[in-house]
Amino acid sequence: MKPNTNFVIPHETIEEVKSRIDIVDVISDFVSLKKAGQNYKALSPFTNEKTPSFFVVPSKGIFKDFSSGKGGDAISFLIEHEGMTYTEAIRFLAKKYGVEIQEEKYSDAQQAEASERESMFILMNFAKNYYQDILNHNDEGQSIGLSYFKERGFTKKTIEKFELGYALDEWEAFQTEAIKKGHNKDLLTKTGLVVSKEDGSTYDRFRGRVIFPVHSLAGKIVAFGARILGKEKDGKKSQPKYINSPETDIYHKSQVLYGLYQGKNSIRQEDECFLVEGYTDVISLHQSDVENVVSSSGTALTEDQIKLIRRFSENVTVLFDGDEAGVKAALRGIDLILKGGLNVRVVLFPDGEDPDSYSTKLGTSEFKKYISEHKQDFISFKADLYAREAAGDPIRKAESIKEIVSSIALIPDPVKRSVYTQETSQLLKISEAVLLTELNKILIQTRRKKEKERNQYPEEYPVTVDPVIDVAEASKTDPVSLIQFQEKETIRLLLNYAEKDLENQKLSDFLIHELEDVEFSNPVFKSIYKEFKEHLINGKAVDSKYFTSHKDPQIRNMVTEMITSRYETSDHWADKYHIVFPKENELLDKLAYTNVLRLKLRVLQKMMEENLLVIKEAESGNDWDKLDKTLTDQEGLKQAEKNLADLLGIVVSK
Ligand code: CTP
Ligand code: MN
Repeated sequence: MKPNTNFVIPHETIEEVKSRIDIVDVISDFVSLKKAGQNYKALSPFTNEKTPSFFVVPSKGIFKDFSSGKGGDAISFLIEHEGMTYTEAIRFLAKKYGVEIQEEKYSDAQQAEASERESMFILMNFAKNYYQDILNHNDEGQSIGLSYFKERGFTKKTIEKFELGYALDEWEAFQTEAIKKGHNKDLLTKTGLVVSKEDGSTYDRFRGRVIFPVHSLAGKIVAFGARILGKEKDGKKSQPKYINSPETDIYHKSQVLYGLYQGKNSIRQEDECFLVEGYTDVISLHQSDVENVVSSSGTALTEDQIKLIRRFSENVTVLFDGDEAGVKAALRGIDLILKGGLNVRVVLFPDGEDPDSYSTKLGTSEFKKYISEHKQDFISFKADLYAREAAGDPIRKAESIKEIVSSIALIPDPVKRSVYTQETSQLLKISEAVLLTELNKILIQTRRKKEKERNQYPEEYPVTVDPVIDVAEASKTDPVSLIQFQEKETIRLLLNYAEKDLENQKLSDFLIHELEDVEFSNPVFKSIYKEFKEHLINGKAVDSKYFTSHKDPQIRNMVTEMITSRYETSDHWADKYHIVFPKENELLDKLAYTNVLRLKLRVLQKMMEENLLVIKEAESGNDWDKLDKTLTDQEGLKQAEKNLADLLGIVVSK
């Protein structure tokens, strides 16, 4: 058979692999899918959205992501999402479904053909196997590396699960072996496995250390961490405890979390992700039967890493050492996670203990018990922390309140913010009004800062003139987008269910009656609503067909988009606040009712935002009367917001 010039996997094997693909199964490895009718949906793994617009259609074997516009089959998903090449995707799927690919010899020509990235992955995988082999079968590996792991209490199963290894204490052992096996010399340095000196000579980066391979989400080896044996000070004073792979074409430290590959299914199942500091914490927790854990590898968490966690769960629990450094790290982590829109809890261990040492000390069940008993939300964590310091000192108390409020201010979701403000008020016995004033001050400052930045770099914020919002817009938390999102929901209900009977009236009558006092802000929705209402008043029936062939293209497009399947269920609210709607046409009356409440809630929130601007003005103009009045107004609005939110809670949870 003539080899294909692009890849070396036989055509029949590819067909075999393709025939076994179950797209839901494939995508589930990376994205937390929820069933929606015949299909599945999820938050887009390609954008940072808050409303699911990523769909998987098993009957057709395809996915469609409305927020990024990407779509295709399982293979294109792997290419888009994991950055795999076509060949890598086929190999990955072959492995997943147990289809054997005949091991090809990598001739020079073929090696050159394979993309460089792919070759780097092949080399990293080779290195992993090599270090593993040394650990398990070489004399030095067994007597030094393996006995070190055993001493730490790592079982054989754990060592295998994390594919741990050992690098011989020699300068060239690895590179000699790699070159002997036909691996390209340049790639040895490009992957960081080998270090090249100025004079052109080279040496192995990892020597005389135990090896922790770092996996990508798809399970490819992208880096290694190599730990010195024994304590840092054992004679090798000048050596760092860990030597890690450098940044390479296939390794971007800020986008990788150690343990995510091994833990992602558990994170999804438990709907919680534990965050720890190091490699050994992750591994020890697995041994204590806690698998939903990742590590930021000793550095501060990054935004990209938070997005990565978000694909699997919105709940992060930070596990840190109770010493000062641990507390500092926890505090830093909390603020970033809050900013990323996730929920944060904290567990601190006794001074001097980290998750690794403590889980080993307590054993599985005691350790799990400790975690569940010591889990605090970030407010009580911060409150406790400062309460200890501030006992009896009013100035310190004021500082600690500011600390807590500044964390709350980072939360993008206004409803969550208000829940936390209430909690703080109860916990610290401070009036909510005081907290709100403080919170508003910070929000104003932040907004000012943003405005300043915007003025400095205007080109980064292009002004769009298109008045029609995208669904992705709804993921923004600014009130205007939220209102428009809710307006869209209203129109959608009208178009799809106008004639449906609610308890004692038609849905369209109910909506139109309830929305008497609400003016639509989006011009397209406004025209649709207006026309709809006019028709209805004139006794004419209107359905979506009328609008899909409308003369105004904006109306046409909007309505077409709205009646497609991605609107099968509406759970913007559900996903955000964990309120679940059964299929919407079974529950139309509630849906219509809650939608009206929500729209009103949004309008209220917009008024509050506008009020904040007035507060700001009054503040900078030293107009204390006005400030006083607007703050009082704000209080009233806040109360109304709370009432509406409560009402919504009652309505939908019944
Ligand atoms: N780290 C690093 N380089 C160092 C020290 C630490 O990259 N010189 C990173 C590693 O990812 C490490 C994490 O920071 O896992 C946490 O550091 P530490 O707690 O010191 O290491 P542990 O992995 O917990 O190791 P051990 O339990 O053996 O002390
Ligand atoms: Mn540690």
